Amino acid sequence: MKRIVLPLSISVVLLLVYAALRTLLPTMLGETVSKYVLAVLLLGLSVGLVRSISFVLFDVIFQRRKKREAPALLRVLLSVVLYSIFLILIYKLVLDEQGGGLGVIATSTVVSVIIGLALQDTLGNFFAGLSIHIEQPFHILDAIRIGNVIGRVEAVTWRTTTIRTNDNTTIIFPNSTVAREPLEVYRFNNLNRRILHAPAPYRIAPQRVIPLIRDTVASIPNVASERSPVVRIGDFADSSIIYEVLYWTKDYMWVPDIDAQIRQHVWYIYRRSDIEIPFPIRHVLIEQQEPLVSREEADYDQVIDSVEIFAPLSAEEKDIVARSAIKSIYAPGELIIRRGDPGDSMFVIYRGNVEVQLPGRDGNMQPVAKLKPGNFFGEMALLTGEPRNADVVTSSEVETLEIRKGVLQQLLDNNAELAEALSQTIAERQLGLDEYARAMPEEERRSKEKKILRRIQKFFGLK
Ligand code: CMP
Repeated sequence: MKRIVLPLSISVVLLLVYAALRTLLPTMLGETVSKYVLAVLLLGLSVGLVRSISFVLFDVIFQRRKKREAPALLRVLLSVVLYSIFLILIYKLVLDEQGGGLGVIATSTVVSVIIGLALQDTLGNFFAGLSIHIEQPFHILDAIRIGNVIGRVEAVTWRTTTIRTNDNTTIIFPNSTVAREPLEVYRFNNLNRRILHAPAPYRIAPQRVIPLIRDTVASIPNVASERSPVVRIGDFADSSIIYEVLYWTKDYMWVPDIDAQIRQHVWYIYRRSDIEIPFPIRHVLIEQQEPLVSREEADYDQVIDSVEIFAPLSAEEKDIVARSAIKSIYAPGELIIRRGDPGDSMFVIYRGNVEVQLPGRDGNMQPVAKLKPGNFFGEMALLTGEPRNADVVTSSEVETLEIRKGVLQQLLDNNAELAEALSQTIAERQLGLDEYARAMPEEERRSKEKKILRRIQKFFGLK
C-alpha cells in the first residue's frame, strides 16, 4: 500500500504546487522549463497509477480467482506496457506539441517491425515463458522428459527452463522448445508408476517367481509404500518369460537407482532359490550320459513310498512307478480331470491340494473331497474303464505324478493285493459319491466292492 500511496500523494501535491505557481506567477518559470517540470511530475503520477493498476489486477482480482500468487513475469510485462503508454502520452501531450500525427505513427510502426524481427527468437521464448508461468504445466522439483532427456526442474525464467539430470549436469532449454516439444511430467510427491522388465526361466512357475520379485521390490527404498508393487507376465520371449515389475515412486529421478537395486536383488534371490538368470542357450549333445538322480527324483520316490495302496509293491516296483510317472505342474484353479471324460491314467499328488467336485442341486460345483500330497485320484476310471466320475480341480499350485495304464497293468499282474486295495478305495469313494444321492447299507457296500474288484479284474484281464 505504501508503495502506491506515497508516489501518488507526492505527485498530486507537487502537481497542485505546480498549478498554483503557474497561475499566481506565470512568468516565474520559462515556457520550456515548465513543460519539463510538468513532464517529470506526470511521470511521478504515472508510477503511482501503474502500481495501483498492478495491485488491483494481480493482488485483488487474480488472487481471488486463481487462489495463488500472480506470476512475477506477468507483473513486469504489464508494468512495461503501461509505462510505455504513459511515456508516449506524456511525450505527445506535454513535450511534442509540434510533432505530426501520421509521421509518428509511421515511424513507430517501422521501429516496431525492426524490433520485432530482431527480437523474434527472444520474443518467442518470452511468450512461451509467459504461457508456462500462467499454465504451470510443471513446478520446481518435478521431473520432466523433453525429447530423450529427463531432469529435475530447477528454474523457469522468462526466457529459459533449466533442468538437472541424474549426471548432475544442467540443461537449459529455451522456453519456445519447452512449449513446442511434447512434455512428460512426473510430478514430485505424486505416485508415478514405473514398469521394469525382469526375465525368469520357463521351467520356474510364475507362482514361485512373482512373490519373490514382488516382496523384494516392496522393500527397496524410494519405492512408494502406498501402493504394493505388482509383478505380472509381460511376454513369452525366446529364452525366458519376461515379467513386468510395476512399482510406484514419488520422486521419478530415483527410477534408475531403484531399477538397478531391483536387478541386483533379483540376482541374489535367483541365486538363493536355485533359479538361473536366463540367457540364450544352445544345447550341444556330445555324448549320452548316465542320468543323474536329482533331488526331485529322490522326493518322488518318497511320495510313491507314502501312498498306502502301494504298500504291497517291492522297492524296485515303487522305483519304476516313480521314474515312469509323468510329472506335471498345474496352476491354482486348473481342472485336472473332467467328469465324463475317458481316463487311462491315475495321479499321485506330489505337492499342493486338489478338490474332487460334483455339481450340486443348484448346478454349482460342490466339493466332495479334498486331497493332499501322497493322496491319489483318477483310479476309478482307469481301473473300471468307466468315464471319470467327478471333476478334480487344483486348490493351489499342484505337482502330480501321472501313472499310465501300462505301468499299472504290470503291477497288478504281480500283486493281487494291489487290486484289492484299489477296489476297496474305489468302493469307499463310490460311497462318498453315492452319499450325494443316498446312504448305502453295509451289505450293499460289500457287494459293490466285490463287483468293482471283478470289474477291475475283467478290465485288466486278471484271473
Ligand atoms: P475318476 O472317476 O477316474 O475321476 C475322478 C476322480 O475323483 C475319481 O476317479 C476318484 O479318484 C476321485 N474321487 C471320486 N470320488 C471321491 C471321493 N468320494 N473321495 C475322494 N476321491 C474321490
